Amino acid sequence: MSKFLLAIESSCDDTAISILRDGIPLCNVVSSQLVHSEFGGVVPEMASREHQKNIILVCDAALKKSGVLLSEINGVAVTIGPGLPGSLLVGASFAKGLSLGLGIPIVGVNHMEAHILSLFIAENSPAFPFLCLVVSGGHTQLVEVFDWKTMKVLGKTLDDAVGEAFDKCGKLLGLGYPAGKVIDDLASKGDPSTFRFPQGRVSEFDFSYSGVKTAVLYFIRDRGEDFVQQNLTNICASIQGALLRPLVEKTEKAMMEKGYTNLGLVGGVAANKVLRHSINSLCKKNNWKYFVPDFQYCTDNAAMIGQAGWFKFEQSDFVPLSFQTNPRLSMGEAF
Ligand code: KG4
Ligand code: ZN
Repeated sequence: MSKFLLAIESSCDDTAISILRDGIPLCNVVSSQLVHSEFGGVVPEMASREHQKNIILVCDAALKKSGVLLSEINGVAVTIGPGLPGSLLVGASFAKGLSLGLGIPIVGVNHMEAHILSLFIAENSPAFPFLCLVVSGGHTQLVEVFDWKTMKVLGKTLDDAVGEAFDKCGKLLGLGYPAGKVIDDLASKGDPSTFRFPQGRVSEFDFSYSGVKTAVLYFIRDRGEDFVQQNLTNICASIQGALLRPLVEKTEKAMMEKGYTNLGLVGGVAANKVLRHSINSLCKKNNWKYFVPDFQYCTDNAAMIGQAGWFKFEQSDFVPLSFQTNPRLSMGEAF
């Protein structure tokens, strides 16, 4: 008989629910909060209130889309961390309510591990062990993935995450929040070699992005608003180039040094067209296998929480009803 898992993601500003049948997503409903746009970043208190308002509606929509009744659900998967404290609490409390009401177990999921395991939603998935470049609004990491629950961070950003850098540069350019996709689209009409923005120089497999943001700030101040508006596509392409170059270079270095032949690219910034293309070319050149999720599974979603949760559900690896969320949960940390 089929088993149904209801997966919940509420760690930041997306309220998402997916229902999986035997580990395969039947739907992927995401409600992205627009209220933060005018503030140029996520306002945590508003995010948790929006989750509270939306989660029932998103759940109803997911059940309807999947053609599954609440009474048929066999387990709940939910993000334990990392994320915003108040936002995580809304998803966790909703999971506890469902667990109590339906008498079903809860599976706890690490949001970052779920981004990596989103690669397994597709039929064609990587073979363990593999290297994964994780690029989101909160993280920039090169991760060695030994199996679905053993992962080691090889390198990470020492300051801003690359998605955060996209968003902060976008804010300086008046492009709203989040700005990654807007910069991606504008950059596709520009020339990345027009302007030079400095790349953060850090050792080994780490990254640094706070310098680019400062350079963009001074660039706008020195050249003036009119110049910026007239050269927006070239500026976006040049900023994007400075943000993406270290990712491609360090990924190549790590693949070579560690001898992996399978490479994954995940997280919100994995939706970036130039990054997808550059990593694809890198893999072709070196004869490596390249894996990247569908666009809908790159940015925050609950199908990836369900995919990660399914591995645990099958092994009856549940959390007690008294579980606590952990806003600072790290890769591979137990809970
Ligand atoms: O994974 P995600 O949805 O949320 C976090 O866990 O952080 O990632 C969101 C980040 C934002 O910074 C957003 O600007 C960025 O991903 N992003 C992009 C693109 N689409 C989303 N960055 C560059 N190009 C894109 N097409
Ligand atoms: Zn995320």
